[in-house]
Amino acid sequence: MANEGASVSNKQVIFNNYVTGFPKESDMKITTGSIELKVPEGSKDSVLLKNLYISCDPYMRERMSKLDRPSFVDSFKPGSPINGYGVAKVLDSTHPKYEKGDLVWGFTGWEEYSLITAPQLLIKIQHTDVPLSYYTGILGMPGVTAYAGLYEICSPKKGEYVYVSAASGAVGQLVGQYAKLAGCYVVGSAGSKEKVDLLKNKFGFDDAFNYKEEPDLAAALKRCFPEGIDIYFENVGGKMLDAVLLNMRVRGRIAVCGMISQYNLEKPEGVYNLAQVIGKRIRMEGLLAGDHYHLYPKFLELVLPAIKEGKIVYVEDIAEGLENAPTALVGLFTGRNVGKQLVVVARE
Ligand SMILES: NC(=O)c1ccc[n+]([C@@H]2O[C@H](COP(=O)([O-])OP(=O)(O)OC[C@H]3O[C@@H](n4cnc5c(N)ncnc54)[C@H](OP(=O)(O)O)[C@@H]3O)[C@@H](O)[C@H]2O)c1
Repeated sequence: MANEGASVSNKQVIFNNYVTGFPKESDMKITTGSIELKVPEGSKDSVLLKNLYISCDPYMRERMSKLDRPSFVDSFKPGSPINGYGVAKVLDSTHPKYEKGDLVWGFTGWEEYSLITAPQLLIKIQHTDVPLSYYTGILGMPGVTAYAGLYEICSPKKGEYVYVSAASGAVGQLVGQYAKLAGCYVVGSAGSKEKVDLLKNKFGFDDAFNYKEEPDLAAALKRCFPEGIDIYFENVGGKMLDAVLLNMRVRGRIAVCGMISQYNLEKPEGVYNLAQVIGKRIRMEGLLAGDHYHLYPKFLELVLPAIKEGKIVYVEDIAEGLENAPTALVGLFTGRNVGKQLVVVARE
């Protein structure tokens, strides 16, 4: 443990330059700078963090693009460290809300230590009787996304038919388990046999299929949902969305959480079956985790006991060390991760 106030080396993951197409490890580089483990004299409302875990999330691909369209995020700055969600320990603070020794989750840098001068999104961790890494996943942004997307946007009712794509990932595995807790019939899709087995045997989905082995996605969904789909939790977009629209039931709901199949395409694919929305009176609604953080205390009341009682399980894919962060991040776009992808920067 470095001494407070001392200058120490600070390993960082630097964003090289804007990306088109699939991101590559070489779009990032590891460098070592130095940092004083103290908030600089005169810096008000700042915190100095020791990063413990960082989170790899698909939306970060959008931040790698030079954005020439409206977006909910800013581009990464070439030559600067990547930033995103993580779990950290406060080493020093001039902010009234945080003090030395606090554990927090929220926005930080992809580096060993970060000086955060505007900690708008740092939530103090109050419960440490669960794995701290969970605050990058089930107890962090993906957890709030799954909870709000399913319960707030889709209002599941007992007996309804729920379909989740990218179902074994950080968000999908939770959506399926929440839908089971709500008494729904749940089917998920994922991109490998290992993931399909997890869905059926670990997360308790009623059925699951490998979308990469299905020549006709609409037929696969018809096979799994002979009576149609009430709720679709959309994580992938593209051809899958088209196939789902054909299989939706009247008054169905679609929470549009993500469209990962489109993120690396220079020209997004079209959606051909949108007119299904009219006759079936389907409600499609976009979802941003950030709109739902006010529900966090209520969310914790549900999820913490569910974790402790074993009603919800969570699978993580943990990479060791900042130098492995670029590989972990780009792996999201080829399905290399099995469960929530995160990186250990340091153990507390
Ligand atoms: N709106 C929000 O606030 C919010 C918050 C969090 C996440 N999201 C979105 O939710 C989705 C899931 O995020 P996550 O964090 O849970 O990621 P994740 O599922 O843990 O990881 C991404 C997975 O996407 C699948 N995938 C990659 N390329 C694909 C393609 N071309 N077609 C179909 N599937 C593909 C891969 O699984 P397979 O092996 O199964 O292909 C991969 O493992 C993403 O679209 C993300 O952008 C949105």
